[in-house]
Amino acid sequence: MERFRTIIEPFRIKSVEPIRLTTVEEREAKLRAAGYNLFNLRAADVLIDLLTDSGTGAMSAEQWAGIQRGDESYAGSPSWFRFLDAVTDLWPFRHVIPTHQGRAAEKILFSVIGGPGKVIPSNTHFDTTRANVEFTGAEAVDLVIPEGREPATIHPFKGNMDTDALDALIRARGAENVPVVFVTVTNNSGGGQPVSLTNLRAVREVCDRHGIPLFLDACRFAENAWFIREREDGYAAVAVPDIVREMASLADGMTMSGKKDALANIGGWLALNDDRWAEQCRNLLILTEGFPTYGGLAGRDLEAMAAGLREVVDEDYLRYRIRSTAYLGEALVAAGVPCVQPIGGHAVYLDAAALLPHIAALEYPGQALACALYREGGIRGCEIGTVMFGMRPDGSEVAAPMELVRLAIPRRVYTQSHIDYVIEVIRWVAERASALRGMRIVEQPSALRHFTARFEPIQ
Ligand code: F0G
Repeated sequence: MERFRTIIEPFRIKSVEPIRLTTVEEREAKLRAAGYNLFNLRAADVLIDLLTDSGTGAMSAEQWAGIQRGDESYAGSPSWFRFLDAVTDLWPFRHVIPTHQGRAAEKILFSVIGGPGKVIPSNTHFDTTRANVEFTGAEAVDLVIPEGREPATIHPFKGNMDTDALDALIRARGAENVPVVFVTVTNNSGGGQPVSLTNLRAVREVCDRHGIPLFLDACRFAENAWFIREREDGYAAVAVPDIVREMASLADGMTMSGKKDALANIGGWLALNDDRWAEQCRNLLILTEGFPTYGGLAGRDLEAMAAGLREVVDEDYLRYRIRSTAYLGEALVAAGVPCVQPIGGHAVYLDAAALLPHIAALEYPGQALACALYREGGIRGCEIGTVMFGMRPDGSEVAAPMELVRLAIPRRVYTQSHIDYVIEVIRWVAERASALRGMRIVEQPSALRHFTARFEPIQ
């Protein structure tokens, strides 16, 4: 037992960036000019930026030292080999293919294995994953357990895949049409919820029965491993890197965004065991990303990820990381603000459908709430609901299963007082929720509309 309870930030700060307070009137004007789409704001007009935890983390002194050490040789750079060692220490796959970020790995993989008639199951595809699958003409299917679709239901591993549904889907479509099964750890679109090793083993068993490879979308693997250590029987005393290696041992490959759990500002990779797929992927890599020992990256970026991979599995870091996200979520729940529960790893997800029952799904309650948090307190979150997932490839619109606003916490960036301020703003908005109005879309593209659509409030 430790003598003191407070879980501190396990670092001190030696470089700071000022952030700027604005008035409600200024922010209302910025919102209008941005078409009520928070992606259109200038970051300098945001006080606390919780839009994403992707590429927004603070790097360590070790990582900055790596940036200096970066070797920019075109082929066979020492930085590449340091990166390769760091990846394969945790993920010993035969082939590692560096990319500029996660979606580039997805694009390359699905270009090789997707196509019309194919179906790719996942617990929940992230939006870029789904878009990359659908771009090839294949179908992306989400098979998270039913608890994973119910914001208020408590379950230790709400990211788990429904293995009966997986088996039924494979039987219905034919194993020859299912080139791969994906599991996203943690399940970002489902609330940053973890997947247990027991579930991964069960998914593996279904895959083996049908001769289908299993891949992980491993963006937040370290956070997932921490939850396994905390919540799954038999893992409390297992070191985090060993839990990661056990996850790896159940999979045939992975896609990865280094912007999350490699603690870097850019980078990613695709790793896999299959020689034939790897060859095809490398051929595409050379077309779109670069030579196989740098992908779309500078040598210094590979160094930043190599150092980040060592830091991200550190227990003090993960204890602080998961606890600080829970700190925000638990304060909101205690104040009666509906949130996805239990609190996930990288973000707190506000349940806009529960907070704004007077706003219909097709009037985008999540977008309305996200705009209100910016207007009232300068906080930028992200709608994860019908704006993000409601448009089908044929152009028709359906309500998403959940209407969430994600408050993603950048790694090692904000302190506890920043988060106390966020709690105050959200409470203020929640107390006035019945006055909020829905939104209508006035302009949108044909895919990934949440990035560029323009809105106006319904009067
Ligand atoms: N998979 C998951 C689960 C993700 O969360 C992301 C990115 C990607 C793949 C794609 O990686 O951005 O490096 O191309 N998620 C970010 C987010 C954008 O805000 O959740 P990328």
